[in-house]
Amino acid sequence: MHYSPLVKRIAGDGADAWLIHSTARAAQERGEDVILLSVGDPDLDTPAPVLERAIERLRAGDTHYTPATGRQHLREAIAAAHRSRTGQPVDADNVIFLAGAQNALFAASLCVAGPGDEVIALEPLYPSYPATLEVGGARMVRVAAPAAQGFRVDLRALEAAITPRTRALFFATPNNPSGVILSAADLTVIGNLARRHSLWIVADEVYAGLAPGGRVPSLAAALPDQVATISSLSKSHSMPGWRAGWLVGPKQLIVHAEAMAQCMLFGLPGFIQEAAVTALSVADAAESRVREYCAVRRDLLLAELSGIAGIQCLVPDAGMFLLVDVRGTGLSGYDFMRELYRTEGLSVLDGGAFGRETGGFVRVCFAADEALLRAAAVRLRRFVKTLVR
Ligand SMILES: Cc1ncc(COP(=O)(O)O)c(C=O)c1O
Repeated sequence: MHYSPLVKRIAGDGADAWLIHSTARAAQERGEDVILLSVGDPDLDTPAPVLERAIERLRAGDTHYTPATGRQHLREAIAAAHRSRTGQPVDADNVIFLAGAQNALFAASLCVAGPGDEVIALEPLYPSYPATLEVGGARMVRVAAPAAQGFRVDLRALEAAITPRTRALFFATPNNPSGVILSAADLTVIGNLARRHSLWIVADEVYAGLAPGGRVPSLAAALPDQVATISSLSKSHSMPGWRAGWLVGPKQLIVHAEAMAQCMLFGLPGFIQEAAVTALSVADAAESRVREYCAVRRDLLLAELSGIAGIQCLVPDAGMFLLVDVRGTGLSGYDFMRELYRTEGLSVLDGGAFGRETGGFVRVCFAADEALLRAAAVRLRRFVKTLVR
């Protein structure tokens, strides 16, 4: 049977990297002795008031259709949170509630670029980006942040990548997997480029709640007509399974995203939206909880992995991941990931899944139980010792 050309564009190329993770997950489910640090899903429960609110609304029968943009009071709450984070004076009409940051990225991508257009994505990038950014027919152009510069943005390379076909620039700040936060100075240069070339800026701020003080520098207030900001409750509140995220941007963009949500989602569950309102009302406490949790474990893992000949850790600005440079072992990130799992049952992720510059790294998620992190460090140290003598 015939399939549309779209199926090729969304097939993705990062599948190999997830192979070990899926194998490890299946082994864990069979009760085998494996440790999974390959995915960013902290073992923290949803904040109790959020859970209670969802249950209350479910019991009250809040299980009917809802508006495609999300309920008005939720959009107002998101607008208020965005205002206080960025200083951009937005209201509910600048907001659409979607099924997670991933869904918001997908909607933004389809609304800002299409066949014949180019979109730039700053590398390293989250593995869903290539399919998400090319789904509408645009071509994704990668601009790599060099490993030698600690994965900080290369502004010259960025400027050189802009062509008359460029429509948008996508980036995540803080970045996954490097944890790098784009500085205000870098954003000023990026903003000037965006202004000069009339580019959309799509800022994926899904990890912003994990940044120091829960904030990252943003261009939203400076370039209100060109910036789309994406976020969710997945990381900040440790609520990834709720699929609660949003897009904040110019009103016309929201009108288009609404049309898309109408034919793609037809509204999201009311009890989740009410729980999301509660989540936003307890954001300070919820985010501090996750931030503290991550900070303690980041420091623990950094200490446990220090002084191992052959590997080096990159200290992240924020987030729940540590990039470990394994080039000193002679293995690529992919081979390191595969062999580490085969010999020690420890699952991490090949940095190559995020781009070329991270090819000699593995990504380790430290949002996990402390005893588990200690055990993982023992396994990793033992494995590296077999490679570096
Ligand atoms: C950079 C980045 N963007 C988006 C997402 C998707 O987030 P959500 O669960 O809100 O869809 C992730 C999830 O890991 C991510 O790392």
